[in-house]
Amino acid sequence: MKTLRSQAWFGRQDKNGFLYRSWMKNQGWPHDLFDGRPVIGICNTWSELTPCNTHFREIAEYVKRGVWEAGGFPLEFPVMSLGESVLRPTAMLFRNLASMDVEESIRGNPIDGVVLLMGCDKTTPSLLMGAASCGLPTIGVSGGPMLSGKFQGHDLGSGTGVWQMNEQVRSGEMKLETFFEAESCMHRSKGHCMTMGTASTMASMVESLGMSLPGNAAIPAVDARRNTLAQMTGRRIVQMVKDDLGISRILTREAFENAIRANAAIGGSTNAVIHLIALAGRIGVPLCLDDFERLGSGLPCLVNIQPSGKYLMEDFFYAGGIPAVLRELGEAGALNRDALTVSGRSIWENVVDAPCWNRDVIHQFAEPFKPAAGITVLRGNLAPNGAVIKLSAASPHLLQHRGRAVVFESIEDFHARINDDALDVDENCVLVLKNCGPRGYPGMAEVGNMPLPPKLLRKGITDMVRISDARMSGTAYGTVVLHASPEAAAGGPLALVESGDAVALDVAERAVRVEVDDATLVARRAQWTPPPLPERGWERLYVEHVLQADQGADLDFLVGRSGARVPRDSH
Ligand code: FES
Repeated sequence: MKTLRSQAWFGRQDKNGFLYRSWMKNQGWPHDLFDGRPVIGICNTWSELTPCNTHFREIAEYVKRGVWEAGGFPLEFPVMSLGESVLRPTAMLFRNLASMDVEESIRGNPIDGVVLLMGCDKTTPSLLMGAASCGLPTIGVSGGPMLSGKFQGHDLGSGTGVWQMNEQVRSGEMKLETFFEAESCMHRSKGHCMTMGTASTMASMVESLGMSLPGNAAIPAVDARRNTLAQMTGRRIVQMVKDDLGISRILTREAFENAIRANAAIGGSTNAVIHLIALAGRIGVPLCLDDFERLGSGLPCLVNIQPSGKYLMEDFFYAGGIPAVLRELGEAGALNRDALTVSGRSIWENVVDAPCWNRDVIHQFAEPFKPAAGITVLRGNLAPNGAVIKLSAASPHLLQHRGRAVVFESIEDFHARINDDALDVDENCVLVLKNCGPRGYPGMAEVGNMPLPPKLLRKGITDMVRISDARMSGTAYGTVVLHASPEAAAGGPLALVESGDAVALDVAERAVRVEVDDATLVARRAQWTPPPLPERGWERLYVEHVLQADQGADLDFLVGRSGARVPRDSH
Protein backbone atom coordinates (compact mmCIF):
# COMPACT_ATOMS: atom_id res chain seq x y z
CA MET A 1 0.00 0.00 0.00
CA LYS A 2 1.33 3.42 -0.91
CA THR A 3 1.89 6.05 1.79
CA LEU A 4 -1.48 7.55 2.61
CA ARG A 5 -2.32 11.25 2.65
CA SER A 6 -3.00 11.17 6.40
CA GLN A 7 0.72 10.58 6.89
CA ALA A 8 1.32 14.14 5.67
CA TRP A 9 -0.14 15.04 9.08
CA PHE A 10 0.39 12.09 11.41
CA GLY A 11 3.60 10.64 9.96
CA ARG A 12 5.70 13.75 10.40
CA GLN A 13 8.80 13.63 12.62
CA ASP A 14 8.99 17.34 13.32
CA LYS A 15 7.23 20.15 15.16
CA ASN A 16 4.18 19.86 12.92
CA GLY A 17 3.93 16.11 13.53
CA PHE A 18 3.82 16.94 17.26
CA LEU A 19 1.05 19.45 16.63
CA TYR A 20 -1.03 17.13 14.47
CA ARG A 21 -0.73 14.13 16.84
CA SER A 22 -0.56 15.62 20.28
CA TRP A 23 -3.92 17.40 20.28
CA MET A 24 -5.59 14.27 18.86
CA LYS A 25 -4.15 12.31 21.78
CA ASN A 26 -6.37 14.28 24.17
CA GLN A 27 -9.06 11.78 23.13
CA GLY A 28 -6.96 8.94 24.46
CA TRP A 29 -5.76 7.57 21.13
CA PRO A 30 -2.63 5.43 21.55
CA HIS A 31 0.45 6.39 19.55
CA ASP A 32 0.33 3.36 17.24
CA LEU A 33 -2.90 4.57 15.61
CA PHE A 34 -0.81 7.17 13.80
CA ASP A 35 1.36 4.51 12.18
CA GLY A 36 0.08 4.90 8.63
CA ARG A 37 -3.11 2.82 8.78
CA PRO A 38 -6.07 4.18 6.77
CA VAL A 39 -7.76 7.08 8.53
CA ILE A 40 -11.45 6.97 7.73
CA GLY A 41 -13.57 10.09 8.07
CA ILE A 42 -17.22 9.50 8.94
CA CYS A 43 -19.10 12.50 7.65
CA ASN A 44 -22.16 12.79 9.87
CA THR A 45 -25.31 14.82 9.25
CA TRP A 46 -26.78 13.97 12.65
CA SER A 47 -28.90 16.77 14.06
CA GLU A 48 -31.94 17.00 16.29
CA LEU A 49 -33.17 19.61 13.83
CA THR A 50 -33.02 17.04 11.02
CA PRO A 51 -35.57 14.54 12.33
CA CYS A 52 -34.81 12.05 9.55
CA ASN A 53 -31.15 11.78 10.65
CA THR A 54 -31.43 11.60 14.45
CA HIS A 55 -30.26 7.96 14.60
CA PHE A 56 -27.00 8.68 12.78
CA ARG A 57 -24.79 8.55 15.84
CA GLU A 58 -25.80 4.91 16.22
CA ILE A 59 -25.11 4.24 12.55
CA ALA A 60 -21.71 5.90 12.91
CA GLU A 61 -20.87 3.52 15.76
CA TYR A 62 -21.54 0.53 13.50
CA VAL A 63 -19.42 2.05 10.72
CA LYS A 64 -16.62 2.47 13.28
CA ARG A 65 -16.88 -1.20 14.28
CA GLY A 66 -16.27 -2.15 10.68
CA VAL A 67 -13.39 0.28 10.26
CA TRP A 68 -11.66 -1.03 13.40
CA GLU A 69 -12.19 -4.64 12.29
CA ALA A 70 -10.50 -3.93 8.98
CA GLY A 71 -7.53 -2.20 10.56
CA GLY A 72 -8.50 1.42 9.97
CA PHE A 73 -8.73 4.40 12.30
CA PRO A 74 -12.25 5.96 12.24
CA LEU A 75 -12.77 9.63 13.01
CA GLU A 76 -16.30 11.03 12.94
CA PHE A 77 -16.95 14.65 12.05
CA PRO A 78 -20.10 16.78 11.73
CA VAL A 79 -21.16 18.82 8.75
CA MET A 80 -24.08 21.14 8.15
CA SER A 81 -27.30 19.12 8.31
CA LEU A 82 -30.33 20.10 6.25
CA GLY A 83 -33.74 19.11 7.63
CA GLU A 84 -36.26 19.25 4.81
CA SER A 85 -39.32 19.48 7.04
CA VAL A 86 -38.03 22.23 9.31
CA LEU A 87 -35.51 24.46 7.57
CA ARG A 88 -36.82 27.73 6.11
CA PRO A 89 -37.18 29.16 3.55
CA THR A 90 -36.17 25.83 1.94
CA ALA A 91 -33.38 23.33 2.57
CA MET A 92 -32.42 23.58 -1.09
CA LEU A 93 -31.13 27.11 -0.49
CA PHE A 94 -28.36 25.51 1.58
CA ARG A 95 -27.51 22.37 -0.43
CA ASN A 96 -24.51 24.03 -2.05
CA LEU A 97 -23.41 25.64 1.22
CA ALA A 98 -23.44 22.24 2.94
CA SER A 99 -21.50 20.78 0.02
CA MET A 100 -18.79 23.39 0.57
CA ASP A 101 -18.66 22.42 4.25
CA VAL A 102 -18.25 18.76 3.27
CA GLU A 103 -15.61 19.46 0.62
CA GLU A 104 -13.44 21.63 2.83
CA SER A 105 -13.86 19.37 5.89
CA ILE A 106 -12.61 16.38 3.92
CA ARG A 107 -9.80 18.20 2.15
CA GLY A 108 -8.47 20.05 5.17
CA ASN A 109 -8.26 17.04 7.44
CA PRO A 110 -6.02 13.94 7.62
CA ILE A 111 -8.53 11.63 5.96
CA ASP A 112 -7.74 8.81 3.52
CA GLY A 113 -11.25 7.65 2.81
CA VAL A 114 -14.69 8.87 3.76
CA VAL A 115 -18.03 7.35 4.71
CA LEU A 116 -21.00 9.62 4.01
CA LEU A 117 -23.99 9.30 6.35
CA MET A 118 -26.95 10.60 4.38
CA GLY A 119 -30.70 10.59 4.90
CA CYS A 120 -33.01 13.56 4.65
CA ASP A 121 -33.39 14.91 1.11
CA LYS A 122 -30.57 17.42 0.68
CA THR A 123 -28.11 15.66 2.95
CA THR A 124 -27.50 13.12 0.18
CA PRO A 125 -26.61 15.38 -2.76
CA SER A 126 -24.70 17.86 -0.60
CA LEU A 127 -22.42 15.14 0.77
CA LEU A 128 -21.92 13.47 -2.60
CA MET A 129 -21.15 16.80 -4.27
CA GLY A 130 -18.62 17.82 -1.64
CA ALA A 131 -16.92 14.43 -1.69
CA ALA A 132 -16.84 14.41 -5.51
CA SER A 133 -14.94 17.71 -5.54
CA CYS A 134 -12.24 16.09 -3.37
CA GLY A 135 -11.94 12.70 -5.06
CA LEU A 136 -10.97 10.44 -2.15
CA PRO A 137 -12.25 6.87 -1.84
CA THR A 138 -15.84 7.44 -0.75
CA ILE A 139 -18.76 5.21 0.20
CA GLY A 140 -22.28 6.06 1.31
CA VAL A 141 -24.65 4.73 3.95
CA SER A 142 -28.18 6.03 3.96
CA GLY A 143 -30.16 6.30 7.18
CA GLY A 144 -33.02 4.23 5.81
CA PRO A 145 -36.74 4.94 5.57
CA MET A 146 -39.15 5.06 8.49
CA LEU A 147 -41.57 2.19 9.07
CA SER A 148 -44.84 2.59 7.19
CA GLY A 149 -47.19 5.17 8.66
CA LYS A 150 -50.41 3.65 9.99
CA PHE A 151 -53.64 5.60 10.51
CA GLN A 152 -57.20 4.38 10.99
CA GLY A 153 -56.23 0.92 9.81
CA HIS A 154 -54.50 2.07 6.65
CA ASP A 155 -50.99 2.85 5.45
CA LEU A 156 -50.13 6.52 5.54
CA GLY A 157 -47.19 7.76 3.50
CA SER A 158 -44.86 10.64 4.38
CA GLY A 159 -45.72 13.80 2.53
CA THR A 160 -48.10 12.12 0.08
CA GLY A 161 -50.62 11.63 2.88
CA VAL A 162 -50.23 15.25 3.95
CA TRP A 163 -51.01 16.58 0.48
CA GLN A 164 -54.00 14.23 0.15
CA MET A 165 -55.48 14.97 3.58
CA ASN A 166 -54.87 18.70 3.25
CA GLU A 167 -56.99 18.74 0.08
CA GLN A 168 -59.67 16.75 1.94
CA VAL A 169 -59.67 19.34 4.72
CA ARG A 170 -59.87 22.18 2.21
CA SER A 171 -62.80 20.54 0.40
CA GLY A 172 -64.59 19.95 3.70
CA GLU A 173 -64.31 16.16 3.39
CA MET A 174 -62.06 15.75 6.47
CA LYS A 175 -62.29 17.39 9.88
CA LEU A 176 -59.27 19.38 11.07
CA GLU A 177 -59.15 17.27 14.27
CA THR A 178 -58.81 14.09 12.19
CA PHE A 179 -56.04 15.70 10.17
CA PHE A 180 -54.09 16.52 13.31
CA GLU A 181 -54.64 13.02 14.74
CA ALA A 182 -52.66 11.70 11.80
CA GLU A 183 -49.58 13.68 12.85
CA SER A 184 -48.42 11.06 15.34
CA CYS A 185 -49.32 8.17 13.07
CA MET A 186 -47.51 9.19 9.93
CA HIS A 187 -43.99 9.33 11.38
CA ARG A 188 -43.65 6.71 14.09
CA SER A 189 -40.04 5.52 13.88
CA LYS A 190 -36.55 6.75 13.15
CA GLY A 191 -35.70 7.27 9.50
CA HIS A 192 -36.49 9.40 6.51
CA CYS A 193 -39.70 9.71 4.48
CA MET A 194 -40.98 6.24 3.61
CA THR A 195 -42.65 7.13 0.32
CA MET A 196 -40.54 7.29 -2.86
CA GLY A 197 -39.92 10.93 -2.02
CA THR A 198 -36.64 12.67 -2.57
CA ALA A 199 -34.84 10.99 0.33
CA SER A 200 -35.71 7.46 -0.82
CA THR A 201 -35.10 8.47 -4.42
CA MET A 202 -31.65 9.81 -3.62
CA ALA A 203 -30.81 6.76 -1.50
CA SER A 204 -31.82 4.73 -4.55
CA MET A 205 -29.60 6.93 -6.71
CA VAL A 206 -26.68 6.28 -4.33
CA GLU A 207 -27.20 2.55 -4.78
CA SER A 208 -27.76 2.77 -8.55
CA LEU A 209 -24.67 4.91 -9.00
CA GLY A 210 -22.73 2.18 -7.25
CA MET A 211 -21.84 4.48 -4.35
CA SER A 212 -23.13 2.16 -1.60
CA LEU A 213 -23.18 -1.53 -0.88
CA PRO A 214 -26.17 -3.35 -2.40
CA GLY A 215 -29.42 -2.99 -0.46
CA ASN A 216 -28.65 0.44 0.92
CA ALA A 217 -31.77 2.27 -0.25
CA ALA A 218 -34.62 0.31 1.24
CA ILE A 219 -33.61 -1.33 4.55
CA PRO A 220 -35.79 0.40 7.16
CA ALA A 221 -33.90 2.66 9.55
CA VAL A 222 -34.87 0.54 12.56
CA ASP A 223 -34.14 -2.84 10.97
CA ALA A 224 -31.04 -4.46 12.46
CA ARG A 225 -29.79 -5.07 8.93
CA ARG A 226 -29.29 -1.30 8.53
CA ASN A 227 -26.66 -1.50 11.25
CA THR A 228 -25.14 -4.57 9.63
CA LEU A 229 -24.86 -2.66 6.37
CA ALA A 230 -23.15 0.20 8.21
CA GLN A 231 -20.63 -2.19 9.74
CA MET A 232 -19.91 -3.83 6.38
CA THR A 233 -19.48 -0.36 4.89
CA GLY A 234 -16.87 0.43 7.54
CA ARG A 235 -14.97 -2.71 6.61
CA ARG A 236 -15.25 -1.95 2.92
CA ILE A 237 -13.96 1.64 2.97
CA VAL A 238 -10.69 0.48 4.52
CA GLN A 239 -10.15 -1.90 1.63
CA MET A 240 -11.14 0.82 -0.85
CA VAL A 241 -8.38 3.01 0.56
CA LYS A 242 -5.90 0.16 0.29
CA ASP A 243 -7.00 -0.38 -3.32
CA ASP A 244 -6.96 3.38 -4.03
CA LEU A 245 -10.52 3.13 -5.35
CA GLY A 246 -11.38 6.84 -5.68
CA ILE A 247 -14.85 8.25 -6.22
CA SER A 248 -14.13 9.22 -9.84
CA ARG A 249 -13.79 5.53 -10.76
CA ILE A 250 -17.35 4.96 -9.51
CA LEU A 251 -19.09 8.14 -10.69
CA THR A 252 -18.66 7.59 -14.41
CA ARG A 253 -20.95 8.47 -17.27
CA GLU A 254 -22.14 4.83 -17.23
CA ALA A 255 -23.05 5.11 -13.55
CA PHE A 256 -25.11 8.26 -14.14
CA GLU A 257 -26.93 6.57 -17.01
CA ASN A 258 -27.78 3.70 -14.68
CA ALA A 259 -29.09 6.16 -12.11
CA ILE A 260 -31.30 7.95 -14.64
CA ARG A 261 -32.83 4.67 -15.74
CA ALA A 262 -33.30 3.48 -12.17
CA ASN A 263 -35.05 6.74 -11.33
CA ALA A 264 -37.55 6.09 -14.10
CA ALA A 265 -38.09 2.51 -12.95
CA ILE A 266 -38.80 3.48 -9.33
CA GLY A 267 -41.03 6.47 -10.16
CA GLY A 268 -38.41 8.65 -8.48
CA SER A 269 -38.45 12.30 -7.59
CA THR A 270 -37.98 15.12 -10.10
CA ASN A 271 -35.44 16.47 -7.63
CA ALA A 272 -33.07 13.72 -8.75
CA VAL A 273 -32.71 15.54 -12.07
CA ILE A 274 -31.24 18.62 -10.41
CA HIS A 275 -29.08 16.71 -7.95
CA LEU A 276 -27.63 14.28 -10.50
CA ILE A 277 -26.75 17.10 -12.92
CA ALA A 278 -25.08 19.03 -10.10
CA LEU A 279 -23.15 15.95 -8.97
CA ALA A 280 -22.04 15.16 -12.52
CA GLY A 281 -20.81 18.74 -12.81
CA ARG A 282 -18.61 18.27 -9.76
CA ILE A 283 -17.01 15.04 -10.97
CA GLY A 284 -16.65 16.26 -14.55
CA VAL A 285 -19.11 13.92 -16.28
CA PRO A 286 -21.14 15.62 -19.02
CA LEU A 287 -24.85 15.28 -18.15
CA CYS A 288 -27.81 17.37 -19.26
CA LEU A 289 -31.59 17.39 -19.34
CA ASP A 290 -31.64 15.68 -22.72
CA ASP A 291 -29.99 12.64 -21.10
CA PHE A 292 -33.03 12.24 -18.86
CA GLU A 293 -35.33 12.52 -21.85
CA ARG A 294 -33.31 10.11 -23.98
CA LEU A 295 -32.53 7.51 -21.33
CA GLY A 296 -35.39 7.74 -18.86
CA SER A 297 -38.61 9.12 -20.26
CA GLY A 298 -39.57 6.09 -22.34
CA LEU A 299 -38.83 3.57 -19.61
CA PRO A 300 -41.62 1.94 -17.64
CA CYS A 301 -42.21 2.51 -13.94
CA LEU A 302 -41.76 -0.87 -12.26
CA VAL A 303 -42.34 -0.01 -8.62
CA ASN A 304 -45.85 0.42 -7.22
CA ILE A 305 -45.03 2.89 -4.48
CA GLN A 306 -46.39 6.24 -3.33
CA PRO A 307 -46.68 8.88 -4.72
CA SER A 308 -46.99 7.07 -8.08
CA GLY A 309 -48.57 3.93 -6.57
CA LYS A 310 -49.85 2.55 -3.27
CA TYR A 311 -47.05 0.81 -1.33
CA LEU A 312 -44.33 2.23 0.92
CA MET A 313 -40.58 1.73 1.32
CA GLU A 314 -41.00 -1.00 3.94
CA ASP A 315 -42.97 -3.04 1.38
CA PHE A 316 -40.34 -2.23 -1.24
CA PHE A 317 -37.61 -3.61 1.02
CA TYR A 318 -39.51 -6.84 1.70
CA ALA A 319 -40.13 -7.21 -2.07
CA GLY A 320 -36.43 -7.02 -2.93
CA GLY A 321 -35.57 -3.31 -3.08
CA ILE A 322 -33.26 -1.70 -5.61
CA PRO A 323 -31.29 -4.89 -6.44
CA ALA A 324 -34.49 -6.46 -7.80
CA VAL A 325 -35.19 -3.33 -9.87
CA LEU A 326 -31.65 -3.19 -11.26
CA ARG A 327 -31.86 -6.85 -12.17
CA GLU A 328 -35.02 -6.14 -14.19
CA LEU A 329 -33.26 -3.27 -15.96
CA GLY A 330 -30.19 -5.40 -16.59
CA GLU A 331 -32.20 -8.25 -18.08
CA ALA A 332 -34.04 -5.75 -20.32
CA GLY A 333 -30.78 -4.30 -21.64
CA ALA A 334 -31.33 -1.02 -19.81
CA LEU A 335 -28.32 -1.14 -17.50
CA ASN A 336 -24.62 -0.52 -18.07
CA ARG A 337 -23.71 -3.84 -16.51
CA ASP A 338 -19.99 -3.22 -16.26
CA ALA A 339 -20.20 -0.05 -14.17
CA LEU A 340 -17.87 -0.48 -11.20
CA THR A 341 -19.34 -0.08 -7.71
CA VAL A 342 -17.86 0.50 -4.27
CA SER A 343 -18.23 -3.21 -3.56
CA GLY A 344 -15.33 -3.71 -5.96
CA ARG A 345 -17.65 -5.61 -8.27
CA SER A 346 -19.73 -4.44 -11.22
CA ILE A 347 -23.31 -3.38 -10.69
CA TRP A 348 -24.45 -6.45 -12.57
CA GLU A 349 -22.38 -8.77 -10.41
CA ASN A 350 -24.07 -7.15 -7.40
CA VAL A 351 -27.62 -7.81 -8.57
CA VAL A 352 -27.58 -10.69 -11.06
CA ASP A 353 -29.25 -13.08 -8.63
CA ALA A 354 -31.37 -10.53 -6.76
CA PRO A 355 -34.76 -12.04 -5.94
CA CYS A 356 -38.17 -10.38 -6.10
CA TRP A 357 -40.63 -11.57 -3.50
CA ASN A 358 -43.70 -9.55 -4.45
CA ARG A 359 -44.60 -8.76 -8.04
CA ASP A 360 -47.37 -6.40 -7.01
CA VAL A 361 -44.70 -4.13 -5.54
CA ILE A 362 -41.88 -4.63 -8.05
CA HIS A 363 -43.22 -5.43 -11.48
CA GLN A 364 -41.38 -7.17 -14.28
CA PHE A 365 -40.07 -5.04 -17.12
CA ALA A 366 -42.34 -6.89 -19.55
CA GLU A 367 -45.42 -6.24 -17.38
CA PRO A 368 -44.67 -2.85 -15.83
CA PHE A 369 -46.65 -0.97 -13.24
CA LYS A 370 -46.92 1.96 -15.68
CA PRO A 371 -45.56 2.05 -19.24
CA ALA A 372 -43.34 4.92 -20.48
CA ALA A 373 -43.59 6.78 -17.19
CA GLY A 374 -40.17 8.34 -16.59
CA ILE A 375 -39.43 12.00 -16.02
CA THR A 376 -40.03 13.82 -19.28
CA VAL A 377 -38.38 17.01 -20.49
CA LEU A 378 -40.53 19.73 -22.04
CA ARG A 379 -39.48 22.76 -24.03
CA GLY A 380 -41.22 25.61 -25.78
CA ASN A 381 -41.55 29.35 -25.46
CA LEU A 382 -42.44 28.95 -21.75
CA ALA A 383 -39.25 27.02 -20.98
CA PRO A 384 -36.65 27.39 -23.74
CA ASN A 385 -34.00 25.67 -21.63
CA GLY A 386 -36.35 22.98 -20.42
CA ALA A 387 -38.88 21.99 -17.78
CA VAL A 388 -39.76 18.58 -16.38
CA ILE A 389 -42.89 16.58 -15.64
CA LYS A 390 -43.13 13.29 -13.74
CA LEU A 391 -45.46 11.18 -15.83
CA SER A 392 -45.83 8.37 -13.31
CA ALA A 393 -47.52 10.83 -10.92
CA ALA A 394 -49.53 12.82 -13.50
CA SER A 395 -53.10 12.37 -14.79
CA PRO A 396 -53.18 10.84 -18.29
CA HIS A 397 -56.20 12.95 -19.35
CA LEU A 398 -54.27 16.19 -18.73
CA LEU A 399 -51.12 15.34 -20.66
CA GLN A 400 -52.48 17.15 -23.67
CA HIS A 401 -54.27 20.23 -22.44
CA ARG A 402 -54.93 23.84 -23.39
CA GLY A 403 -56.32 26.26 -20.89
CA ARG A 404 -56.55 29.81 -19.64
CA ALA A 405 -53.67 30.87 -17.40
CA VAL A 406 -54.37 31.94 -13.84
CA VAL A 407 -51.12 33.59 -12.85
CA PHE A 408 -49.62 34.11 -9.40
CA GLU A 409 -46.65 36.48 -9.24
CA SER A 410 -45.21 34.97 -6.05
CA ILE A 411 -45.97 32.35 -3.42
CA GLU A 412 -47.48 35.09 -1.24
CA ASP A 413 -49.78 36.11 -4.09
CA PHE A 414 -50.79 32.46 -4.44
CA HIS A 415 -51.60 32.02 -0.75
CA ALA A 416 -53.53 35.30 -0.68
CA ARG A 417 -55.91 34.35 -3.50
CA ILE A 418 -56.16 30.58 -3.98
CA ASN A 419 -58.77 29.99 -1.27
CA ASP A 420 -61.02 32.82 -2.44
CA ASP A 421 -64.15 31.42 -4.09
CA ALA A 422 -64.31 34.64 -6.12
CA LEU A 423 -61.07 33.69 -7.90
CA ASP A 424 -61.81 33.42 -11.62
CA VAL A 425 -60.71 29.83 -12.14
CA ASP A 426 -62.21 26.55 -13.36
CA GLU A 427 -60.82 23.05 -13.78
CA ASN A 428 -59.70 23.73 -17.35
CA CYS A 429 -57.47 26.61 -16.30
CA VAL A 430 -53.70 26.30 -15.93
CA LEU A 431 -52.24 27.55 -12.64
CA VAL A 432 -48.98 29.43 -13.25
CA LEU A 433 -46.65 30.32 -10.38
CA LYS A 434 -43.68 32.68 -10.88
CA ASN A 435 -40.59 33.66 -8.93
CA CYS A 436 -40.05 30.39 -7.08
CA GLY A 437 -36.90 29.28 -8.94
CA PRO A 438 -33.28 29.22 -7.70
CA ARG A 439 -32.91 33.01 -7.68
CA GLY A 440 -36.55 33.92 -7.23
CA TYR A 441 -37.50 32.20 -3.97
CA PRO A 442 -34.46 32.08 -3.44
CA GLY A 443 -33.54 28.40 -3.26
CA MET A 444 -36.17 26.91 -5.58
CA ALA A 445 -38.65 25.76 -2.97
CA GLU A 446 -40.94 22.73 -3.21
CA VAL A 447 -44.08 24.72 -3.94
CA GLY A 448 -44.76 23.70 -7.55
CA ASN A 449 -47.54 21.27 -6.60
CA MET A 450 -49.91 24.14 -5.87
CA PRO A 451 -52.99 23.13 -3.83
CA LEU A 452 -56.16 23.39 -5.90
CA PRO A 453 -58.86 26.03 -5.34
CA PRO A 454 -61.32 24.76 -2.70
CA LYS A 455 -64.33 25.45 -4.90
CA LEU A 456 -62.93 22.99 -7.46
CA LEU A 457 -62.04 20.42 -4.79
CA ARG A 458 -65.69 20.55 -3.65
CA LYS A 459 -66.68 19.71 -7.25
CA GLY A 460 -64.53 16.59 -7.04
CA ILE A 461 -61.63 17.94 -9.13
CA THR A 462 -58.36 16.36 -7.95
CA ASP A 463 -55.84 17.51 -10.56
CA MET A 464 -55.14 20.50 -12.79
CA VAL A 465 -52.21 21.47 -14.98
CA ARG A 466 -49.78 23.55 -12.95
CA ILE A 467 -46.64 25.24 -14.27
CA SER A 468 -43.85 26.96 -12.36
CA ASP A 469 -40.13 27.48 -11.99
CA ALA A 470 -40.30 25.77 -8.58
CA ARG A 471 -39.56 22.20 -7.55
CA MET A 472 -42.02 19.89 -5.83
CA SER A 473 -41.57 17.44 -3.01
CA GLY A 474 -40.69 13.97 -4.21
CA THR A 475 -43.73 12.84 -2.23
CA ALA A 476 -46.07 15.03 -4.30
CA TYR A 477 -48.10 14.16 -7.38
CA GLY A 478 -50.27 15.69 -10.09
CA THR A 479 -49.89 17.09 -13.61
CA VAL A 480 -47.24 19.50 -12.52
CA VAL A 481 -44.69 21.11 -14.85
CA LEU A 482 -41.62 22.07 -12.83
CA HIS A 483 -38.17 23.66 -13.12
CA ALA A 484 -39.14 25.98 -16.02
CA SER A 485 -35.85 27.42 -17.17
CA PRO A 486 -34.77 30.16 -17.32
CA GLU A 487 -36.82 31.04 -14.24
CA ALA A 488 -39.00 34.15 -14.00
CA ALA A 489 -36.59 35.98 -11.69
CA ALA A 490 -33.81 35.51 -14.26
CA GLY A 491 -35.98 37.04 -16.97
CA GLY A 492 -37.24 33.73 -18.38
CA PRO A 493 -40.42 33.86 -20.46
CA LEU A 494 -42.44 32.55 -17.51
CA ALA A 495 -42.14 36.12 -16.19
CA LEU A 496 -44.13 37.40 -19.16
CA VAL A 497 -47.25 35.22 -18.82
CA GLU A 498 -50.41 37.04 -17.77
CA SER A 499 -53.74 35.78 -16.49
CA GLY A 500 -56.01 35.10 -19.44
CA ASP A 501 -53.24 33.95 -21.79
CA ALA A 502 -53.79 30.57 -23.41
CA VAL A 503 -51.25 27.99 -22.24
CA ALA A 504 -50.76 24.62 -23.91
CA LEU A 505 -49.17 21.45 -22.54
CA ASP A 506 -48.50 18.68 -25.04
CA VAL A 507 -46.46 15.90 -23.49
CA ALA A 508 -46.43 13.80 -26.66
CA GLU A 509 -44.83 16.76 -28.43
CA ARG A 510 -42.65 17.50 -25.37
CA ALA A 511 -43.96 21.07 -25.48
CA VAL A 512 -45.12 23.72 -23.05
CA ARG A 513 -46.15 27.03 -24.63
CA VAL A 514 -47.90 30.29 -24.03
CA GLU A 515 -49.96 31.18 -27.08
CA VAL A 516 -49.09 34.86 -27.24
CA ASP A 517 -47.48 36.44 -30.29
CA ASP A 518 -43.84 37.43 -30.17
CA ALA A 519 -44.52 41.17 -30.50
CA THR A 520 -46.69 41.10 -27.38
CA LEU A 521 -44.04 39.16 -25.46
CA VAL A 522 -41.38 41.69 -26.55
CA ALA A 523 -43.58 44.54 -25.34
CA ARG A 524 -44.12 42.80 -22.00
CA ARG A 525 -40.39 42.19 -21.63
CA ALA A 526 -39.74 45.90 -22.02
CA GLN A 527 -41.89 46.43 -18.92
CA TRP A 528 -40.21 43.69 -16.86
CA THR A 529 -37.74 44.55 -14.10
CA PRO A 530 -35.62 42.01 -12.23
CA PRO A 531 -36.25 41.52 -8.50
CA PRO A 532 -33.81 43.26 -6.13
CA LEU A 533 -30.78 41.33 -4.87
CA PRO A 534 -30.75 40.14 -1.25
CA GLU A 535 -28.79 42.67 0.81
CA ARG A 536 -26.06 40.48 2.29
CA GLY A 537 -24.80 37.13 3.46
CA TRP A 538 -25.31 33.67 2.01
CA GLU A 539 -28.51 34.62 0.15
CA ARG A 540 -26.62 37.36 -1.67
CA LEU A 541 -23.77 35.03 -2.65
CA TYR A 542 -26.26 32.34 -3.67
CA VAL A 543 -28.42 34.56 -5.88
CA GLU A 544 -25.39 36.10 -7.57
CA HIS A 545 -23.89 32.71 -8.44
CA VAL A 546 -26.59 30.04 -8.64
CA LEU A 547 -27.01 28.29 -11.97
CA GLN A 548 -30.40 27.60 -13.45
CA ALA A 549 -32.32 24.37 -12.78
CA ASP A 550 -31.34 22.75 -16.08
CA GLN A 551 -27.70 23.09 -15.02
CA GLY A 552 -28.27 21.57 -11.58
CA ALA A 553 -28.60 24.81 -9.55
CA ASP A 554 -25.02 24.53 -8.29
CA LEU A 555 -23.03 27.71 -7.74
CA ASP A 556 -21.04 28.61 -10.84
CA PHE A 557 -17.71 28.66 -8.97
CA LEU A 558 -18.31 25.24 -7.36
CA VAL A 559 -18.62 23.27 -10.59
CA GLY A 560 -15.66 20.92 -10.98
CA ARG A 561 -13.22 19.56 -8.44
CA SER A 562 -10.04 20.64 -6.74
CA GLY A 563 -8.76 17.28 -5.53
CA ALA A 564 -7.57 16.55 -2.03
CA ARG A 565 -4.12 18.13 -2.01
CA VAL A 566 -3.31 20.77 0.62
CA PRO A 567 0.38 21.68 0.31
CA ARG A 568 0.69 24.06 3.26
CA ASP A 569 0.81 23.35 6.98
CA SER A 570 -1.41 25.17 9.47
CA HIS A 571 1.45 26.52 11.58
FE1 FES B 1 -36.54 14.26 5.70
FE2 FES B 1 -38.65 13.73 4.00
S1 FES B 1 -38.44 15.31 5.50
S2 FES B 1 -36.74 12.78 4.17
